[in-house]
Amino acid sequence: MSSMITLALSKGRIFDETLPLLAAAGIQVLEDPEKSRKLILSTNQPNVRVVLVRATDVPTYVEYGGADIGVTGKDTLIEHGGQGLYQPLDLQIAKCRVSVAVRSDFDYAQAVKKGSRLQVATKYTSIARDFFATKGVHVDMVKLYGSMELAPLIGLADAIVDLVSTGNTLRANHLIEVERIMDISSHLVVNQAALKLKQAPLRRIIDAFASAVPPEKN
Ligand code: PRP
Repeated sequence: MSSMITLALSKGRIFDETLPLLAAAGIQVLEDPEKSRKLILSTNQPNVRVVLVRATDVPTYVEYGGADIGVTGKDTLIEHGGQGLYQPLDLQIAKCRVSVAVRSDFDYAQAVKKGSRLQVATKYTSIARDFFATKGVHVDMVKLYGSMELAPLIGLADAIVDLVSTGNTLRANHLIEVERIMDISSHLVVNQAALKLKQAPLRRIIDAFASAVPPEKN
C-alpha cells in the first residue's frame, strides 16, 4: 500500500474554495486546472496529489478508493447515498441551497394541494422525492443533468428542484423560488479503509482542514 494521498476535487467553486484549506495543511497545488487539461495535479508535497473529477463522481471515487479523500457538496452526497464514506467535516464552503422554483405565472400553492400531481424536473431526484413525499404531493419526476431552469419555460415540467446561490439564474429565466428545501455546503469525505491504512497523513489533513474552517455563521 503506497502512502500516496489522493484528493478528489471538482473544478470551479469547490476547487477554488478548497485551496485555502489545503494551504492550512501546508499543501499547494502546482497546476491551475483552468489552464491545463491534466486530470492529475501534483502538489508541493511529493506524497499528495489532486485528481479532478466531475462533482457527482467525487463520492464514487472516494467510496471505491480511487481517491482517499474528497470534497463534495451535501447535495451530491445525499444523492450518492454516502455509503462507505466517512464524513468527518462540514467545510462551510461552496454554500448554496436546494430550492423549488416555478414560472412566476404558475400557481404553486394550488398545485401542491393534497391529491394533486406535480411535474418536477431535477437532477436531485432523491432530495425532491423525499421532500414532496413529506408534503404529500404526488410527483412525476423528470430526471435531467443540467439546465433545469429551461424545463418550466418549455413546458417539460411545472417545477424544478435545483441549487440556488445568488438567484441570478432564476431571475434571468423569470422563475421564482417558492420553497427552500435545504441549505448546502461542501463536506470532507474519506475512504474508510484508507483512514485505517494511511491514518497519520490523513489525520494531519483532516485536522488542518478542521482548524481552518470558519466558525459557523447564523
Ligand atoms: C448551479 C445551479 C444553477 C446555478 C445557481 O449551476 O444549477 O443553475 O448554479 O446559481 P445562482 O443562483 O448564483 O445563479 P452550476 O453553475 O453549479 O452548474 P451546473 O449547471 O453544472 O450545476
